[in-house]
Amino acid sequence: MQFAECVMQRYATKKFDGRTIPEAKVNELLELVRFAPSALNVQPWKIKVITDKKVKETLRPASNNQEQITTCSHLLIFCADSDYDSLIKRLGALMTANHIPKDVVDKVTGMAAQFAAGMSKEQQAAWSQAQTYLALGNALNGAKSLGFDSCPMGGFDPKAYSRILKIPAHLTPVMLCPIGYAADKQGPKIRFPGSEIVF
Ligand SMILES: Cc1cc2nc3c(=O)[nH]c(=O)nc-3n(C[C@H](O)[C@H](O)[C@H](O)COP(=O)(O)O)c2cc1C
Repeated sequence: MQFAECVMQRYATKKFDGRTIPEAKVNELLELVRFAPSALNVQPWKIKVITDKKVKETLRPASNNQEQITTCSHLLIFCADSDYDSLIKRLGALMTANHIPKDVVDKVTGMAAQFAAGMSKEQQAAWSQAQTYLALGNALNGAKSLGFDSCPMGGFDPKAYSRILKIPAHLTPVMLCPIGYAADKQGPKIRFPGSEIVF
């Protein structure tokens, strides 16, 4: 499927039909997510994947009781990672393992460390969150390209999710992305005209 078709045919699915997406396809999707861009390439996101029916049932009340949670195949929970010390250390090691010259590694990790140090905890969290949305974008369009459906969902209680799933403190759930096969139909695309958004 061409990218433009994915964009136009993707929609926020309200109900899935309960079928399971083959694991290989889910892994392909997670690869598309993994390659999303991020500032200084720090990749400040983690994705929790839930398939267990009982766990989904437990999460549904913490998700405005939305049906996508229990009808989806896999529930992806996009978490913003604000542990910049670890992320930068890990990035440096990875660049070195990929034969990036030491001066470049030092420059990139130094800039990232300086940037992170110049922000409050809240600003760091917001920075991670903004980038996690880019990874989510890959998941939404990527799902369509791989032949299944998705829904971006912000209507949930992140604290309850963290508690129920014992998510570590440096990770904040920011968006849900249930994926599966739609049991509903795409409605009309309601969008402001280009002339109103381009100035
Ligand atoms: C940040 C954000 C939060 C959203 N939260 C929900 C949600 O909790 N439940 C839901 O059904 N759709 C949710 N949506 C989907 C939007 O309602 C939907 O993308 C929008 O109405 C445009 O429709 P379309 O995606 O079908 O083109 C959310 C979308 C975004 C970007």
